[in-house]
Amino acid sequence: MDRLSLDLARCMAGGTIARGLTPEMMEALRPRLDEALAAVHAAAGTGWLEWTELPAKDPGALVSYAAANHGRYDALMVIGIGGSALGPIALATALLPFYWNELSPTRRRHMPRLYVLDNVDPDETVALLDRLDLERTLVNVISKSGTTGESMAGYLIIKQRLEAVVGPRAVKEHLVFTTDPAGGTLRQIGNETGVPMFDLGPGIGGRFSVLSPVGLLPAALTGMDVSGLLAGAADMASWIEESAGWDNPACAFAGVQYLNDVEFRRRISVMMPYSAHLRDIADWYRQLWAESLGKSVDRKGRPIDCGPTPVKSLGVTDQHSQLQLYAEGPDDKIITFLGVGEFAQTLQIPAPGPEAEALSYLGGHTLGGLLWAEQRATAWALAQKGRPSLTITVPKVEARSVGALMYMLEMATAVAGELYDIDAFDQPGVELSKKATYALMGRAGYEDLAGRIR
Ligand code: PA5
Repeated sequence: MDRLSLDLARCMAGGTIARGLTPEMMEALRPRLDEALAAVHAAAGTGWLEWTELPAKDPGALVSYAAANHGRYDALMVIGIGGSALGPIALATALLPFYWNELSPTRRRHMPRLYVLDNVDPDETVALLDRLDLERTLVNVISKSGTTGESMAGYLIIKQRLEAVVGPRAVKEHLVFTTDPAGGTLRQIGNETGVPMFDLGPGIGGRFSVLSPVGLLPAALTGMDVSGLLAGAADMASWIEESAGWDNPACAFAGVQYLNDVEFRRRISVMMPYSAHLRDIADWYRQLWAESLGKSVDRKGRPIDCGPTPVKSLGVTDQHSQLQLYAEGPDDKIITFLGVGEFAQTLQIPAPGPEAEALSYLGGHTLGGLLWAEQRATAWALAQKGRPSLTITVPKVEARSVGALMYMLEMATAVAGELYDIDAFDQPGVELSKKATYALMGRAGYEDLAGRIR
């Protein structure tokens, strides 16, 4: 398999890029990259780094479950939020054919349509419930903690609807849970009702869970190549294991982001795929980077103003929306172009007739060629303005390369956490808002807080 590649040339100082990385800067960081990687490797498989074991896990149980249920459901509804939704969404956008839900059952090979409910908007929820034939719907409730209010509200609503449509005794035929193996309300409900359950290991946080049943169960149920995803991640894990310093893809990605932050105060990390299939990987990365690195204290509890802001952008669409800002606005961004070597489809742009002579430069090219030219042109044009970028290229969008890319970005996040010396695996900043919501919803024990919320 061809591996993905990282091109750092346009991050480097020289030519039009005055504020770029120098060999000295990179050399100075190199021992710290190696130390950071060694720390990640030393902790791999323990504590909150249990996700590093996922590429080697046997997906047999979930693949068998999917095979046993093949053809039984017309729709799969995923209820989850944050890390319990963004991974499944990213995989579906990357690996299912476009407009999957509109394809006929035959074209879907009798796999279900896929709907992910990751919000509590009543209008959206009612609209979705009205669309689904619940007698032919499977609902995968995903919650690591098994207590998240938004997802549990979704569960309560769907359970009531299912009871009304299929009858209380058949509800469990339409549910499958993905949750912590021991704790949480969802686990308890599953134990009491006999709903099938898949374990999300105790040391796998939501944003690092895409290669666990969180991502893989919806993937298997909709016919994605689960083994390919894991094989690609395993190949990336070997590459990361075997290489060091700037030759290591995870270290190189983390190192570029880190140096642009600390040396040049470029505190915005833009991920810009030039592939519609990879669009939601940028969304998934946004959560991974933001929740992991946005921290107010370092590991010793000292105040630290940490957190490059991840931004999602899409080539070429956002060239007509964001590029002006990237080129001439504040020089506070490092752009990652995410390109593909080869598209699945070749679509020729027809030569224009005499009435459209001005468009003759387009005729005879492919649409993929145009997309690729726009990516190169944008990277070059940004460099002319002194704006740095790096480019990740995946050979083509398929399960192996997607698994490799996502695992690389997870490892890069862990390495960046080491460089900043912060805990990349907690999210204390979201707790207060959760508690305030409990208070406003009248949960027992939060009465004092409710009185303080204006
Ligand atoms: O990455 C994380 O840990 C969070 O975004 C969680 O995934 C999110 O809060 C949902 O949590 P849970 O899976 O416990 O319902």
